[in-house]
Amino acid sequence: EKAGYDYFMLKEIAEQPKAVADTLLGRIDAAGSLTLDEVRIGAAELREADKVVIVACGTAFHAGLIAKYAIEHWTRIPCEVELASEFRYRDPILGPRSLVIAISQSGETMDTLMALRHAREQGSKVLAICNTNGSTIPRESDAVLYTHAGPEVAVASTKAFLTQLVACYLVALYLGQVRGTKWADEIRAVIRDLAQISGQVERVLETMEPVRALARSLADKKTVLFLGRHVGYPVALEGALKLKELAYMHAEGFAAGELKHGPIALVEEDLPVVVVVPSPRGRSVLHDKIVSNIQEIRARGARTIVIAEEGDEAVAPYADHLVRIPATPVLLQPLVATVPLQVFACELATARGNEVDQPRNLAKSVTVE
Ligand code: F6R
Repeated sequence: EKAGYDYFMLKEIAEQPKAVADTLLGRIDAAGSLTLDEVRIGAAELREADKVVIVACGTAFHAGLIAKYAIEHWTRIPCEVELASEFRYRDPILGPRSLVIAISQSGETMDTLMALRHAREQGSKVLAICNTNGSTIPRESDAVLYTHAGPEVAVASTKAFLTQLVACYLVALYLGQVRGTKWADEIRAVIRDLAQISGQVERVLETMEPVRALARSLADKKTVLFLGRHVGYPVALEGALKLKELAYMHAEGFAAGELKHGPIALVEEDLPVVVVVPSPRGRSVLHDKIVSNIQEIRARGARTIVIAEEGDEAVAPYADHLVRIPATPVLLQPLVATVPLQVFACELATARGNEVDQPRNLAKSVTVE
């Protein structure tokens, strides 16, 4: 069942190139238009939506945080992302023109289900992004876009996350297509970039041995910090969550720009800090700022673990450990940048003797509020 792997998690990490490719399959026609037939919410309603609200928990919430960047950038519709467990209790402002997107691997998460029920009671349309056919969340939604990750057995989510990202990018492009802010040639270009990602994830997977060795060397650490900016910020949060769940270590993700507003006080001699570096192309201002952050924390003794694009030489002098990822368009970087963090957490958990597929106190689907 584990196809030769020691753990389901390792198998599922390895399946990511295929999962990503499968989630794209059949969703673009010969003319370069997205054909999301499952999205049974009328074009008129999608055109009139005045905001998008994403609700989800845990790893799916991190996918939602990344989706916000893509949705706002490609469609110019305001987008909010909220933890499903907080959503209905603050009396959120919703109406018929709000498009709510509920992201859930299992489709059974009670917090997310209650959030979507609340949204529908307010007259909003709900689109589910889900990996489990016929589960409760898609059944209770107005429409569903399935991710095609295949069954995810390990409690810690890996391949489902990457496919949730792909689905979110597709929804963002589709909204752009319907509303006329994204045209077929642009959509085709992004789809082409997305189609490349599968091979790029494969390449990342082939270069993970140094990351595993590094993880083993950190097995007796107490804390690891993760920093990122822009779409790298949710990636940092996801890296920290994986480490908490699997290695039972204290881990926190920060927006790198927040460092000086408090977290830098935590930095001490030999503290491992993982930094997800934005592409030096694209928003190069952010790249330069994060290079300064790396210098600042290193000057205070941190052990810097730097995840940076191939060809990004500016970071090299300040990286105690340098993990290379392929160059991708800025918004798509999380699809490759998350993979080393998954491998890192999995290997640390193994080194600490933890049960990788079944971390203590956790369940694969959380069906209580
Ligand atoms: C993290 C993890 C959880 C789930 C969360 C939502 O590795 O597995 O944080 O992401 O419980 O679950 P779904 O996506 O099934 O709603």
